[in-house]
Amino acid sequence: MGQTTKNWWRNGAIYQIYPRSFMDGNGDGVGDLPGITGKLEYLSNLGVDAVWLSPIFPSPMADFGYDVADYTDIHPMFGTLDDFDALVAKARSLGLKVLLDYVPNHTSDEHEWFVESRASRGDPKREWYIWRDAKDDGSPPNNWESYFGGPAWEWDEATGQYYLHLFDKKQPDLNWRNPEVREAMYDAMRFWFDRGVDGLRIDVLWLLVKDEEFRDNPVNEEWKDGDFLPSRQSRVYSEDRPETMEIVREMRSVAEEYEESRVLVGEIYLTLERLMAYYGGETLDGVQLPFNFGLVLLENWDAKSVRSLVDEYEAALPGDGAWPNWVLGNHDMPRIASRVGEEKERLAAMLLLTLRGTPTMYYGDEIGMKNVEVPPHLAHDPQGKVHKSYGRDPFRTPMQWNAEKNAGFSNAEPWLPVAGDHQKVNVEARESDPSSTLSLYKKLLGFRRVSTALGLGAYSSLDGMPDECFAYLREHKGEKLLVVLNFSGEEVSAPLPEGGWRVEVSTRLDREEKASGVVEMRPYEGVVMSEG
Ligand code: NOJ
Repeated sequence: MGQTTKNWWRNGAIYQIYPRSFMDGNGDGVGDLPGITGKLEYLSNLGVDAVWLSPIFPSPMADFGYDVADYTDIHPMFGTLDDFDALVAKARSLGLKVLLDYVPNHTSDEHEWFVESRASRGDPKREWYIWRDAKDDGSPPNNWESYFGGPAWEWDEATGQYYLHLFDKKQPDLNWRNPEVREAMYDAMRFWFDRGVDGLRIDVLWLLVKDEEFRDNPVNEEWKDGDFLPSRQSRVYSEDRPETMEIVREMRSVAEEYEESRVLVGEIYLTLERLMAYYGGETLDGVQLPFNFGLVLLENWDAKSVRSLVDEYEAALPGDGAWPNWVLGNHDMPRIASRVGEEKERLAAMLLLTLRGTPTMYYGDEIGMKNVEVPPHLAHDPQGKVHKSYGRDPFRTPMQWNAEKNAGFSNAEPWLPVAGDHQKVNVEARESDPSSTLSLYKKLLGFRRVSTALGLGAYSSLDGMPDECFAYLREHKGEKLLVVLNFSGEEVSAPLPEGGWRVEVSTRLDREEKASGVVEMRPYEGVVMSEG
C-alpha cells in the first residue's frame, strides 16, 4: 500500500503495542523502542498496516505512561528521539504506519506546567489545571469520584485549594476551557505529526471538558455491589459535556493541516448514540475512528447477540461516510482468549478481520495469549490496587516470543511475570504450526489485503440462518464474499444464498472447497466464502 494513500486507515489493520511489554532491547526487564524496531519485520509479515504505541513519553509511571511529564520527548527507559526516528524509518521501509498515544485530559503532576501551576495561586499557569476552593466544612468541591477509586479531588496544602484528577492524584486534569492549554496541546500534536507520525490514539477523549458549575453527579441507580466502583455515579457532569465537540473538531483541524492523512482514533466509552456524536455529525469533522468497544464489552458470544451488536452499530453510523471500526481487546480489558475461551477465540479473530471497518488488534492476541495471574506482591497497576478485581496487569504481561527463559522477551527479570504457558504459546511455536491461531490471523490479514470486498465492501447480515450461526455478506463492485460463523458446539448445516460458493478460509485452516445449497459447519467453525 502506497504511503500517500489518503485513507489508508480504512482498509488498514492497526496493531497495538504496549511498549513496556513487547520487546526488551537493552536487558533491563522493560520493553523499549529498539526492541520494537527489531520486531517490526514480524509485524509486517503478520500483515498489519499500522502500529499504535501506548505512551512512550517521559513519565514517573504512576499510571505506566498515561501520566505524561513531557509531551515532546521520549522516556529514557524506552530510548531517545533518535531511537524513535529509527523506528519510524524502519516502519516506513516496511510500509508500516506509526500511531502514538496522545493523553490530553491530564498530565503528570511532575509535568513542569503543573509544577508551576501549584507554585502559587497567582502563577500564570494556575488556570491551566482545575483548582477549586473547599466547601465550608473543608470537604472537596463536589462528589466526583476518580476512576481509580476515592474522591477526584486532592487537597494542596501550600496553596489551600483542591485540584481535580479523574484518575490518579498524580494525574491532574488539564483545564481545556483555557485557550492557552489548547494551543500548547495542539502544538504537541504537531510535534509528532511533523516527525512523521501517521495518527494519534486519543486517551479518554470524552472526558476533556467538565461542567462549568461543577455540579454533583447523581447516583447511578443501576449500580450493584461488585460492579466497577466508579460507576456508582452517573457521570453526567464530569464527562461528555457538549463543549467537548468543539475541541474534537479543533483536533481534527490540526490533523487536516497535513496533506497526507493523519488519523485520529478516539478512546470513548459511551452509549452507541453518544459514541456516534464523536464522528462530528453529518459533516464528519470529528475523529475518523471513535473506538467501537462493542466486542470488548459484549458478554454473550452467541450468534444472536453478536448479530444484534453489529447490525445496531452499522445502522447507527452517521452521514454518508462514517467509517466503522472493531476491537477485541486492549491494555485495559481482559484478553479475548480468556473472555471467550479457546473454542471461540478463532471466531472472534475471523469476526474482527471480516467485519466492515478498521480492525485494531492487541499484541499477543494473535498467538492466543491469555490473562496471566499476577500475585499481589508483583502487581503494579494503580487501578488494581484499589479495585482488586479490576487490576490490569494480567493483560499487560510480556509478549511470548519463544520457549526460552522469559519467553525471549528479556534477559533480565521482566517487570511483570511471563505467562506460565509460554513454552507452548509463543510466536516461534505458532509460526511453525500451519493450523495455529497465528496462521489464521496471517491468512485473514493477507486475504484482506487482496480482497476489496473485505477491505472496503458493504456489509449486510443474512436472515434464514440456523440460530447457531451469524452470517453476512461483504460486497464491492461485483466481488461478493459470505462469512458464516457457527457459535455453537454442534455441527450445523447453514443454507447458502443461490449460486456456487467456495470456502476460501476456515477458522480451522484445513479446507478450501466448493459448496452450493448448504455449507456444513463444524463446531465453533467460521468460514469465508467467495462466490463462483
Ligand atoms: C485510558 C487508558 O487506556 C488507561 O490505561 C489509563 O489508565 C487512563 N486512560 C488514564 O489515562
